[in-house]
Amino acid sequence: MNYKASFPQTRLRRLRYSPVVRKMVTESSVFVDDLIMPLFVCPGVNVQNPIKSMPGNFQLSVDNLVKECKVIFDLGVKSVLLFGIPEHKDEDGTVACQHDGIVQKAIRAIKKELPEIFIVADVCNCEYTVHGHCGTIVNNDVDNDLTLVTLAKQSVSLAKAGADMIAPSDMMDGRISAVRKALDENGFVKIPIMSYAAKYASGFYGPFRDAAESAPKFGDRASYQMNPANSDEAMREIALDIEEGADIVMVKPAMSYLDVVYRAKQMFKMPLAVYNVSGEFSMVKAAAANGWIDEKRLMMEIVTSFKRAGADIIITYFAKDIAKFIKEKQKK
Ligand code: PBG
Repeated sequence: MNYKASFPQTRLRRLRYSPVVRKMVTESSVFVDDLIMPLFVCPGVNVQNPIKSMPGNFQLSVDNLVKECKVIFDLGVKSVLLFGIPEHKDEDGTVACQHDGIVQKAIRAIKKELPEIFIVADVCNCEYTVHGHCGTIVNNDVDNDLTLVTLAKQSVSLAKAGADMIAPSDMMDGRISAVRKALDENGFVKIPIMSYAAKYASGFYGPFRDAAESAPKFGDRASYQMNPANSDEAMREIALDIEEGADIVMVKPAMSYLDVVYRAKQMFKMPLAVYNVSGEFSMVKAAAANGWIDEKRLMMEIVTSFKRAGADIIITYFAKDIAKFIKEKQKK
């Protein structure tokens, strides 16, 4: 900063008195266009299983999912991120690659009714393997290179079903180039990749693992997801993913990692997404249910902090609520 400011000539409160001026000098804003809503799809008909730890979120069968997409789209949220709960799981997650897999079916059904909605497909094995790890197990370890084969197949299958963007969340090394190559070879050169580039081994994923029924049956994810203590390493992860062809990079979780978000934006100037994960959502809901905080106010404060730190895209279970909140505010 090259200006000198000194009291009493400078009084920063002068710009804080009028709501009009406060709005004029607002530096960061959240728009409905920034938001992606995650959704969980499960087998069956007319299923709407509430996810207890994530109030307002459900495991939905395809028919109900289509309806929910319409509601979300009408509120102005133009993009959803899909996770599948398959009927059967297997050792290496190949059920994730099937033409009639749960997410593939969901994508085709949504696109039939609502072709304009932008569908992001999460790519990972953990919801599809019997052991709940994000890849193929060999000698008690997730085998990196074998897993790349399944991830590439899953990506192509989801693109064939009509996914608009592929989002690998597994944290295997080399997955972005494997997925990019497979997509290109199958004619999907126009499908972008949003990489979960800096994804931490986080306790904030607890409620999601109930929702997606994807908790690991043994061990943890520390050998593939990042150590929460590291930030230089996040820059290396992001650099590699960009080099391998990622179009958008992501930091996940969001709230406790805003330093990483800020650094990533400053360093790479790439389109940057944050994932405001399940635990972050549930904490706010739980505190609000107890009457300890003002839910709407916190929700907006949190997502605004993502924009301030440098995020362009916000994946959040609050997407619907935020869209409603912004609409209400515009009416006033
Ligand atoms: C799959 C995946 C996870 C989340 C998104 N994709 C869970 C995990 O890595 O265990 C978490 C999302 C959330 O907590 O909202 N690998």
